[in-house]
Amino acid sequence: MSKVPYRTYLTEKEMPTKWYNVKADMKEQHDPYINPGTMKPIKVEDLTPIVCEELAKQELDCTSRYIDIPEEIQDFYKVFRPSPLIRAYNLEKALGTPAKIYYKFEGNNTSGSHKLNSAAAQVYYAKKQGITSLTTETGAGQWGTALAMASSFFGVDLTVYMVKVSFMQKPFRKSVIETFGAKILPSPSDTTEAGRKILEKDPDTGGSLGCAISEAVETAVKTPNCRYVLGSVLDQVLLHQSIIGLETHKAFEKIGEYPDIIIGCAGGGSNLGGLMAPFMGDKLTGKANPYFIAVEPASCPSLTRGKYAYDFCDTGMVTPLAKMYTLGSQFIPSANHAGGLRYHGMSPIISKLYHDGQLNEARAVEQTKVFDAASFFAKYETILPAPESSHAIRVAIDEALKCKETGEAKTILFGLTGTGYFDMNAYASYNAGEMSDYIPTDEDLEKGFAALPKIPGIQE
Ligand SMILES: Cc1ncc(COP(=O)(O)O)c(C=O)c1O
Repeated sequence: MSKVPYRTYLTEKEMPTKWYNVKADMKEQHDPYINPGTMKPIKVEDLTPIVCEELAKQELDCTSRYIDIPEEIQDFYKVFRPSPLIRAYNLEKALGTPAKIYYKFEGNNTSGSHKLNSAAAQVYYAKKQGITSLTTETGAGQWGTALAMASSFFGVDLTVYMVKVSFMQKPFRKSVIETFGAKILPSPSDTTEAGRKILEKDPDTGGSLGCAISEAVETAVKTPNCRYVLGSVLDQVLLHQSIIGLETHKAFEKIGEYPDIIIGCAGGGSNLGGLMAPFMGDKLTGKANPYFIAVEPASCPSLTRGKYAYDFCDTGMVTPLAKMYTLGSQFIPSANHAGGLRYHGMSPIISKLYHDGQLNEARAVEQTKVFDAASFFAKYETILPAPESSHAIRVAIDEALKCKETGEAKTILFGLTGTGYFDMNAYASYNAGEMSDYIPTDEDLEKGFAALPKIPGIQE
Protein backbone atom coordinates (compact mmCIF):
# COMPACT_ATOMS: atom_id res chain seq x y z
CA MET A 1 0.00 0.00 0.00
CA SER A 2 1.31 3.43 -0.84
CA LYS A 3 2.25 5.68 2.03
CA VAL A 4 -0.43 7.99 3.43
CA PRO A 5 0.54 11.58 2.44
CA TYR A 6 1.56 14.10 5.08
CA ARG A 7 -1.42 16.23 4.08
CA THR A 8 -4.74 14.99 2.74
CA TYR A 9 -6.96 17.66 1.17
CA LEU A 10 -10.38 17.24 -0.35
CA THR A 11 -10.93 18.89 -3.70
CA GLU A 12 -13.42 21.77 -3.85
CA LYS A 13 -15.90 19.38 -5.46
CA GLU A 14 -15.53 16.91 -2.60
CA MET A 15 -16.30 19.54 0.05
CA PRO A 16 -19.47 18.88 2.08
CA THR A 17 -22.57 20.73 0.88
CA LYS A 18 -24.63 19.90 4.00
CA TRP A 19 -23.95 20.15 7.72
CA TYR A 20 -24.64 17.09 9.85
CA ASN A 21 -26.98 17.43 12.81
CA VAL A 22 -25.89 14.76 15.29
CA LYS A 23 -29.08 15.31 17.33
CA ALA A 24 -31.03 13.46 14.63
CA ASP A 25 -29.15 10.28 15.57
CA MET A 26 -29.15 10.74 19.34
CA LYS A 27 -31.49 8.27 21.06
CA GLU A 28 -32.32 10.90 23.66
CA GLN A 29 -32.13 14.67 23.25
CA HIS A 30 -30.54 16.98 25.78
CA ASP A 31 -33.06 18.52 28.18
CA PRO A 32 -34.75 21.57 26.61
CA TYR A 33 -33.50 25.11 27.13
CA ILE A 34 -35.71 26.88 29.63
CA ASN A 35 -36.93 30.46 29.39
CA PRO A 36 -35.94 32.00 32.76
CA GLY A 37 -38.93 34.38 32.55
CA THR A 38 -41.62 31.70 32.21
CA MET A 39 -39.64 28.65 33.42
CA LYS A 40 -41.07 26.84 30.38
CA PRO A 41 -39.14 25.15 27.54
CA ILE A 42 -37.90 27.64 24.96
CA LYS A 43 -39.72 28.02 21.63
CA VAL A 44 -38.36 29.56 18.43
CA GLU A 45 -40.26 32.80 19.16
CA ASP A 46 -38.55 33.11 22.58
CA LEU A 47 -35.17 33.09 20.84
CA THR A 48 -35.84 35.40 17.90
CA PRO A 49 -35.50 38.70 19.82
CA ILE A 50 -31.91 37.62 20.61
CA VAL A 51 -30.78 35.54 17.62
CA CYS A 52 -31.99 35.61 14.03
CA GLU A 53 -34.81 33.34 12.93
CA GLU A 54 -33.03 30.72 10.83
CA LEU A 55 -30.49 30.18 13.61
CA ALA A 56 -33.25 29.91 16.22
CA LYS A 57 -34.84 27.19 14.07
CA GLN A 58 -31.54 25.35 13.70
CA GLU A 59 -31.06 25.55 17.46
CA LEU A 60 -34.24 23.63 18.14
CA ASP A 61 -34.11 21.24 15.17
CA CYS A 62 -33.61 17.68 16.48
CA THR A 63 -34.85 15.80 13.42
CA SER A 64 -33.17 17.06 10.21
CA ARG A 65 -30.12 14.83 9.88
CA TYR A 66 -28.55 17.01 7.18
CA ILE A 67 -29.05 20.73 6.61
CA ASP A 68 -28.06 22.36 3.30
CA ILE A 69 -25.17 24.79 3.49
CA PRO A 70 -26.38 27.82 1.47
CA GLU A 71 -24.30 28.43 -1.65
CA GLU A 72 -23.07 31.83 -0.42
CA ILE A 73 -21.63 30.17 2.68
CA GLN A 74 -20.09 27.37 0.61
CA ASP A 75 -18.42 30.06 -1.54
CA PHE A 76 -17.06 31.80 1.56
CA TYR A 77 -15.85 28.46 2.96
CA LYS A 78 -13.86 27.93 -0.22
CA VAL A 79 -11.70 30.95 0.66
CA PHE A 80 -10.22 29.06 3.62
CA ARG A 81 -11.38 25.44 3.29
CA PRO A 82 -10.96 22.54 2.89
CA SER A 83 -8.53 22.32 5.77
CA PRO A 84 -5.88 19.61 5.69
CA LEU A 85 -5.92 16.33 7.59
CA ILE A 86 -2.27 16.00 8.54
CA ARG A 87 -0.39 12.81 9.37
CA ALA A 88 2.06 13.74 12.13
CA TYR A 89 4.91 11.55 10.90
CA ASN A 90 7.53 13.79 12.49
CA LEU A 91 5.81 13.87 15.85
CA GLU A 92 5.36 10.08 15.78
CA LYS A 93 9.07 9.65 15.07
CA ALA A 94 10.08 12.05 17.81
CA LEU A 95 7.88 10.18 20.30
CA GLY A 96 9.02 6.79 19.06
CA THR A 97 5.43 5.58 19.07
CA PRO A 98 3.84 2.93 16.87
CA ALA A 99 0.63 5.02 17.00
CA LYS A 100 -0.53 6.78 13.86
CA ILE A 101 -1.28 10.39 14.75
CA TYR A 102 -3.49 12.61 12.61
CA TYR A 103 -4.67 16.14 13.19
CA LYS A 104 -7.20 18.30 11.42
CA PHE A 105 -5.66 21.77 11.16
CA GLU A 106 -8.20 24.60 11.35
CA GLY A 107 -5.76 27.47 11.92
CA ASN A 108 -5.08 28.43 8.33
CA ASN A 109 -7.13 31.62 8.17
CA THR A 110 -6.60 35.08 9.64
CA SER A 111 -8.76 34.38 12.69
CA GLY A 112 -6.36 31.53 13.38
CA SER A 113 -9.05 29.04 14.30
CA HIS A 114 -12.10 26.96 13.45
CA LYS A 115 -14.37 29.79 14.59
CA LEU A 116 -14.79 31.16 11.07
CA ASN A 117 -16.92 28.11 10.15
CA SER A 118 -19.79 29.25 12.35
CA ALA A 119 -19.11 32.99 11.99
CA ALA A 120 -19.69 32.70 8.24
CA ALA A 121 -23.03 30.96 8.78
CA GLN A 122 -24.30 33.21 11.55
CA VAL A 123 -23.49 36.47 9.75
CA TYR A 124 -24.94 35.18 6.48
CA TYR A 125 -28.31 34.34 8.05
CA ALA A 126 -28.38 37.67 9.91
CA LYS A 127 -27.71 39.61 6.72
CA LYS A 128 -30.36 37.62 4.87
CA GLN A 129 -32.90 38.58 7.52
CA GLY A 130 -31.98 42.27 7.14
CA ILE A 131 -30.20 42.58 10.50
CA THR A 132 -27.83 45.56 10.40
CA SER A 133 -25.64 44.98 13.45
CA LEU A 134 -24.42 42.16 15.64
CA THR A 135 -22.82 41.82 19.07
CA THR A 136 -20.73 39.05 20.48
CA GLU A 137 -18.27 38.00 23.15
CA THR A 138 -14.77 36.66 22.59
CA GLY A 139 -12.36 34.88 24.92
CA ALA A 140 -9.07 34.15 23.22
CA GLY A 141 -9.98 36.58 20.43
CA GLN A 142 -10.28 34.03 17.64
CA TRP A 143 -14.07 34.12 17.61
CA GLY A 144 -14.15 37.94 17.67
CA THR A 145 -11.69 38.05 14.79
CA ALA A 146 -13.59 35.40 12.84
CA LEU A 147 -16.83 37.27 13.30
CA ALA A 148 -15.20 40.57 12.32
CA MET A 149 -13.98 38.90 9.12
CA ALA A 150 -17.39 37.44 8.29
CA SER A 151 -19.17 40.70 9.21
CA SER A 152 -17.00 42.78 6.95
CA PHE A 153 -17.41 40.21 4.14
CA PHE A 154 -21.22 40.16 4.33
CA GLY A 155 -21.54 43.87 5.31
CA VAL A 156 -22.94 43.88 8.88
CA ASP A 157 -21.74 46.09 11.78
CA LEU A 158 -20.22 44.33 14.78
CA THR A 159 -19.38 45.07 18.44
CA VAL A 160 -17.14 42.58 20.25
CA TYR A 161 -16.84 42.29 24.04
CA MET A 162 -13.48 40.68 24.73
CA VAL A 163 -12.72 39.05 28.11
CA LYS A 164 -10.53 41.68 29.81
CA VAL A 165 -7.66 39.40 30.78
CA SER A 166 -7.29 38.21 27.17
CA PHE A 167 -7.67 41.80 25.91
CA MET A 168 -4.65 42.76 28.04
CA GLN A 169 -2.67 39.62 27.12
CA LYS A 170 -3.25 40.07 23.39
CA PRO A 171 -3.33 43.77 22.45
CA PHE A 172 -2.97 43.09 18.72
CA ARG A 173 -6.28 41.25 18.61
CA LYS A 174 -7.87 44.70 18.90
CA SER A 175 -5.94 45.95 15.88
CA VAL A 176 -6.94 42.97 13.76
CA ILE A 177 -10.59 43.21 14.74
CA GLU A 178 -10.59 46.97 14.07
CA THR A 179 -8.89 46.39 10.73
CA PHE A 180 -11.94 44.40 9.70
CA GLY A 181 -14.10 47.36 10.74
CA ALA A 182 -15.56 46.05 14.02
CA LYS A 183 -15.69 47.76 17.42
CA ILE A 184 -14.05 45.99 20.38
CA LEU A 185 -14.35 46.62 24.13
CA PRO A 186 -12.73 44.89 27.12
CA SER A 187 -15.32 43.12 29.29
CA PRO A 188 -16.57 43.82 31.87
CA SER A 189 -17.02 47.36 30.57
CA ASP A 190 -19.00 50.33 31.88
CA THR A 191 -21.10 50.44 28.70
CA THR A 192 -23.72 47.95 29.93
CA GLU A 193 -25.71 47.42 33.12
CA ALA A 194 -24.37 43.86 33.37
CA GLY A 195 -20.78 45.10 33.07
CA ARG A 196 -21.27 47.88 35.62
CA LYS A 197 -22.78 45.42 38.11
CA ILE A 198 -19.87 43.01 37.76
CA LEU A 199 -17.34 45.84 38.11
CA GLU A 200 -19.10 47.14 41.23
CA LYS A 201 -18.70 43.71 42.86
CA ASP A 202 -15.11 43.21 41.73
CA PRO A 203 -13.43 46.21 40.08
CA ASP A 204 -10.23 44.23 39.37
CA THR A 205 -11.87 41.23 37.75
CA GLY A 206 -10.23 39.86 34.59
CA GLY A 207 -13.71 39.00 33.32
CA SER A 208 -14.91 35.73 31.85
CA LEU A 209 -16.77 34.52 28.82
CA GLY A 210 -19.90 34.47 30.98
CA CYS A 211 -19.55 38.24 31.72
CA ALA A 212 -18.83 39.10 28.10
CA ILE A 213 -21.91 37.16 26.93
CA SER A 214 -24.11 39.16 29.34
CA GLU A 215 -22.81 42.44 27.94
CA ALA A 216 -23.20 41.36 24.32
CA VAL A 217 -26.77 40.07 24.86
CA GLU A 218 -27.79 43.27 26.69
CA THR A 219 -26.45 45.47 23.90
CA ALA A 220 -28.15 43.35 21.22
CA VAL A 221 -31.52 43.57 22.99
CA LYS A 222 -31.23 47.36 23.48
CA THR A 223 -30.04 48.20 19.94
CA PRO A 224 -32.60 48.41 17.10
CA ASN A 225 -32.26 45.73 14.39
CA CYS A 226 -29.36 44.13 16.22
CA ARG A 227 -28.88 40.47 17.18
CA TYR A 228 -26.48 38.54 19.34
CA VAL A 229 -24.28 35.73 18.04
CA LEU A 230 -22.42 33.16 20.11
CA GLY A 231 -19.22 31.41 19.06
CA SER A 232 -19.70 28.13 20.88
CA VAL A 233 -21.93 26.16 23.28
CA LEU A 234 -25.15 26.33 21.23
CA ASP A 235 -26.41 23.43 19.11
CA GLN A 236 -26.38 25.58 15.95
CA VAL A 237 -22.65 26.30 16.41
CA LEU A 238 -21.89 22.58 16.70
CA LEU A 239 -23.98 22.06 13.58
CA HIS A 240 -21.88 24.56 11.58
CA GLN A 241 -18.67 23.10 12.99
CA SER A 242 -19.68 19.65 11.72
CA ILE A 243 -17.93 20.75 8.51
CA ILE A 244 -14.66 19.89 10.34
CA GLY A 245 -15.71 16.33 11.06
CA LEU A 246 -17.37 15.77 7.69
CA GLU A 247 -14.20 16.77 5.84
CA THR A 248 -12.12 14.61 8.19
CA HIS A 249 -14.41 11.61 7.72
CA LYS A 250 -14.15 11.91 3.94
CA ALA A 251 -10.38 12.38 4.07
CA PHE A 252 -10.03 9.21 6.16
CA GLU A 253 -12.13 7.37 3.57
CA LYS A 254 -9.75 8.59 0.86
CA ILE A 255 -6.71 7.19 2.66
CA GLY A 256 -8.43 4.03 3.89
CA GLU A 257 -8.09 4.79 7.59
CA TYR A 258 -10.44 5.29 10.56
CA PRO A 259 -9.58 6.74 13.97
CA ASP A 260 -9.58 4.60 17.13
CA ILE A 261 -9.33 7.64 19.40
CA ILE A 262 -10.73 11.14 18.75
CA ILE A 263 -9.52 14.00 20.92
CA GLY A 264 -10.61 17.62 21.11
CA CYS A 265 -10.11 20.49 23.51
CA ALA A 266 -13.37 21.66 25.04
CA GLY A 267 -14.16 25.26 25.95
CA GLY A 268 -17.81 25.59 25.04
CA GLY A 269 -17.59 22.38 23.02
CA SER A 270 -17.91 23.57 19.42
CA ASN A 271 -14.71 22.25 17.83
CA LEU A 272 -14.95 18.92 19.61
CA GLY A 273 -18.64 18.67 18.76
CA GLY A 274 -17.89 19.48 15.10
CA LEU A 275 -14.90 17.19 14.75
CA MET A 276 -16.56 14.23 16.34
CA ALA A 277 -20.06 14.69 14.83
CA PRO A 278 -19.99 12.18 11.94
CA PHE A 279 -17.85 9.74 13.95
CA MET A 280 -20.34 9.99 16.82
CA GLY A 281 -23.04 9.42 14.19
CA ASP A 282 -21.23 6.18 13.25
CA LYS A 283 -21.18 5.20 16.90
CA LEU A 284 -24.83 6.04 17.52
CA THR A 285 -25.90 4.04 14.47
CA GLY A 286 -23.67 1.05 15.29
CA LYS A 287 -21.24 1.48 12.37
CA ALA A 288 -18.07 2.05 14.41
CA ASN A 289 -16.95 2.52 17.97
CA PRO A 290 -14.22 5.14 18.31
CA TYR A 291 -13.14 6.36 21.76
CA PHE A 292 -13.82 10.07 22.36
CA ILE A 293 -11.85 12.26 24.78
CA ALA A 294 -12.68 15.87 25.70
CA VAL A 295 -9.80 17.87 27.16
CA GLU A 296 -10.24 20.86 29.42
CA PRO A 297 -7.99 23.01 31.60
CA ALA A 298 -7.54 21.91 35.21
CA SER A 299 -8.25 25.55 36.09
CA CYS A 300 -11.75 25.43 34.55
CA PRO A 301 -12.88 21.81 34.89
CA SER A 302 -16.55 21.91 33.89
CA LEU A 303 -16.82 18.30 32.64
CA THR A 304 -14.48 16.67 35.15
CA ARG A 305 -15.59 18.51 38.30
CA GLY A 306 -18.74 20.38 37.34
CA LYS A 307 -22.38 19.52 38.04
CA TYR A 308 -24.80 18.32 35.39
CA ALA A 309 -27.47 20.90 36.05
CA TYR A 310 -29.56 23.70 34.57
CA ASP A 311 -27.61 26.94 34.53
CA PHE A 312 -27.41 30.30 32.82
CA CYS A 313 -25.02 30.50 29.88
CA ASP A 314 -23.79 33.90 31.15
CA THR A 315 -22.74 35.61 34.37
CA GLY A 316 -25.43 38.31 34.17
CA MET A 317 -28.14 35.60 34.20
CA VAL A 318 -30.01 36.94 31.18
CA THR A 319 -29.67 34.01 28.77
CA PRO A 320 -31.90 30.91 28.63
CA LEU A 321 -31.12 28.10 31.07
CA ALA A 322 -29.31 25.12 29.61
CA LYS A 323 -28.84 21.66 31.11
CA MET A 324 -25.10 21.19 30.97
CA TYR A 325 -21.97 20.42 32.93
CA THR A 326 -21.28 23.66 34.75
CA LEU A 327 -19.16 25.23 37.44
CA GLY A 328 -21.91 27.79 38.03
CA SER A 329 -22.43 30.97 36.05
CA GLN A 330 -20.76 33.02 38.81
CA PHE A 331 -17.54 30.98 38.67
CA ILE A 332 -14.71 33.13 37.35
CA PRO A 333 -11.80 30.93 36.27
CA SER A 334 -8.22 31.93 37.05
CA ALA A 335 -6.38 33.94 34.42
CA ASN A 336 -4.80 31.00 32.59
CA HIS A 337 -3.55 31.41 29.06
CA ALA A 338 -6.22 29.42 27.25
CA GLY A 339 -8.79 32.23 27.08
CA GLY A 340 -11.09 30.19 24.84
CA LEU A 341 -11.39 27.43 27.44
CA ARG A 342 -12.28 29.72 30.33
CA TYR A 343 -16.02 29.07 30.27
CA HIS A 344 -18.09 27.88 33.21
CA GLY A 345 -20.39 25.62 31.19
CA MET A 346 -20.34 23.19 28.29
CA SER A 347 -22.39 22.59 25.15
CA PRO A 348 -25.65 20.80 26.06
CA ILE A 349 -25.03 18.27 23.25
CA ILE A 350 -21.51 17.47 24.50
CA SER A 351 -22.83 17.37 28.08
CA LYS A 352 -25.59 14.93 27.19
CA LEU A 353 -23.29 12.66 25.18
CA TYR A 354 -20.82 12.66 28.05
CA HIS A 355 -23.50 12.06 30.65
CA ASP A 356 -24.82 9.10 28.62
CA GLY A 357 -21.33 7.64 28.15
CA GLN A 358 -21.18 8.09 24.36
CA LEU A 359 -18.41 10.65 24.76
CA ASN A 360 -16.18 8.28 26.68
CA GLU A 361 -13.90 10.46 28.74
CA ALA A 362 -13.08 13.97 29.87
CA ARG A 363 -9.59 14.84 31.05
CA ALA A 364 -8.37 17.97 32.80
CA VAL A 365 -4.78 19.04 32.16
CA GLU A 366 -2.52 21.65 33.77
CA GLN A 367 -1.25 24.51 31.66
CA THR A 368 2.49 23.90 32.17
CA LYS A 369 2.02 20.35 30.86
CA VAL A 370 -0.04 21.77 28.00
CA PHE A 371 2.80 24.10 27.05
CA ASP A 372 5.34 21.24 27.31
CA ALA A 373 3.25 19.50 24.65
CA ALA A 374 2.75 22.68 22.59
CA SER A 375 6.45 23.45 22.30
CA PHE A 376 7.34 19.81 21.59
CA PHE A 377 4.70 19.68 18.87
CA ALA A 378 5.85 23.01 17.37
CA LYS A 379 9.42 21.77 17.04
CA TYR A 380 8.46 18.67 15.06
CA GLU A 381 5.32 19.73 13.18
CA THR A 382 6.42 23.38 12.66
CA ILE A 383 3.05 24.87 13.58
CA LEU A 384 2.86 27.15 16.64
CA PRO A 385 -0.35 25.91 18.25
CA ALA A 386 -2.91 27.97 20.16
CA PRO A 387 -2.91 27.26 23.91
CA GLU A 388 -6.48 25.96 23.60
CA SER A 389 -5.57 23.49 20.85
CA SER A 390 -2.51 22.41 22.82
CA HIS A 391 -4.79 20.79 25.39
CA ALA A 392 -5.71 18.26 22.69
CA ILE A 393 -2.05 17.89 21.71
CA ARG A 394 -1.17 17.07 25.33
CA VAL A 395 -3.63 14.19 25.45
CA ALA A 396 -2.78 12.98 21.92
CA ILE A 397 0.87 12.76 22.98
CA ASP A 398 -0.09 10.97 26.21
CA GLU A 399 -2.15 8.44 24.26
CA ALA A 400 0.67 7.93 21.74
CA LEU A 401 3.10 7.33 24.62
CA LYS A 402 0.71 4.72 26.05
CA CYS A 403 0.85 2.99 22.66
CA LYS A 404 4.64 3.07 22.90
CA GLU A 405 4.38 1.13 26.17
CA THR A 406 1.84 -1.39 24.92
CA GLY A 407 3.16 -1.65 21.36
CA GLU A 408 -0.30 -0.90 19.93
CA ALA A 409 -0.51 0.98 16.63
CA LYS A 410 -3.70 2.89 17.38
CA THR A 411 -4.91 5.60 15.04
CA ILE A 412 -5.23 8.83 16.99
CA LEU A 413 -7.05 11.87 15.64
CA PHE A 414 -7.05 15.27 17.31
CA GLY A 415 -8.34 18.70 16.41
CA LEU A 416 -5.64 21.33 15.99
CA THR A 417 -8.08 24.18 16.26
CA GLY A 418 -5.77 27.12 15.80
CA THR A 419 -2.47 28.94 15.89
CA GLY A 420 -0.94 30.81 18.81
CA TYR A 421 0.67 33.86 17.21
CA PHE A 422 -1.24 36.18 19.53
CA ASP A 423 -0.31 34.11 22.56
CA MET A 424 3.34 35.07 22.73
CA ASN A 425 3.00 36.39 26.29
CA ALA A 426 1.99 32.87 27.24
CA TYR A 427 4.89 31.29 25.37
CA ALA A 428 7.26 33.91 26.84
CA SER A 429 6.11 33.10 30.36
CA TYR A 430 6.49 29.37 29.68
CA ASN A 431 9.96 29.81 28.14
CA ALA A 432 11.05 31.90 31.13
CA GLY A 433 9.91 29.17 33.52
CA GLU A 434 7.40 31.58 35.05
CA MET A 435 4.18 29.80 34.19
CA SER A 436 2.19 28.42 37.09
CA ASP A 437 -0.80 26.12 37.43
CA TYR A 438 -3.89 27.04 39.32
CA ILE A 439 -6.35 24.35 40.25
CA PRO A 440 -9.51 25.51 42.04
CA THR A 441 -10.18 23.92 45.43
CA ASP A 442 -13.45 22.12 46.18
CA GLU A 443 -14.35 25.17 48.26
CA ASP A 444 -13.87 27.47 45.26
CA LEU A 445 -16.16 25.23 43.23
CA GLU A 446 -18.80 25.06 45.98
CA LYS A 447 -19.20 28.85 45.70
CA GLY A 448 -20.03 28.48 42.01
CA PHE A 449 -22.48 25.62 42.63
CA ALA A 450 -24.26 27.63 45.33
CA ALA A 451 -25.47 30.06 42.67
CA LEU A 452 -27.11 27.43 40.44
CA PRO A 453 -30.67 28.55 39.69
CA LYS A 454 -33.73 26.92 41.23
CA ILE A 455 -36.42 25.77 38.80
CA PRO A 456 -39.70 24.66 40.40
CA GLY A 457 -40.30 20.95 39.84
CA ILE A 458 -37.04 20.51 37.91
CA GLN A 459 -34.15 21.76 40.01
CA GLU A 460 -35.03 22.57 43.61
C1 LIG B 1 -8.16 28.06 19.00
C2 LIG B 1 -9.32 27.71 19.84
N1 LIG B 1 -9.53 26.42 20.13
C3 LIG B 1 -10.56 26.02 20.91
C4 LIG B 1 -11.41 26.95 21.46
C5 LIG B 1 -12.51 26.45 22.36
O1 LIG B 1 -13.77 26.66 21.92
P1 LIG B 1 -14.75 25.47 21.54
O2 LIG B 1 -14.77 24.53 22.71
O3 LIG B 1 -16.04 26.10 21.28
O4 LIG B 1 -14.21 24.83 20.33
C6 LIG B 1 -11.25 28.31 21.18
C7 LIG B 1 -12.17 29.31 21.73
O5 LIG B 1 -11.99 30.49 21.68
C8 LIG B 1 -10.17 28.69 20.35
O6 LIG B 1 -9.96 29.97 20.06
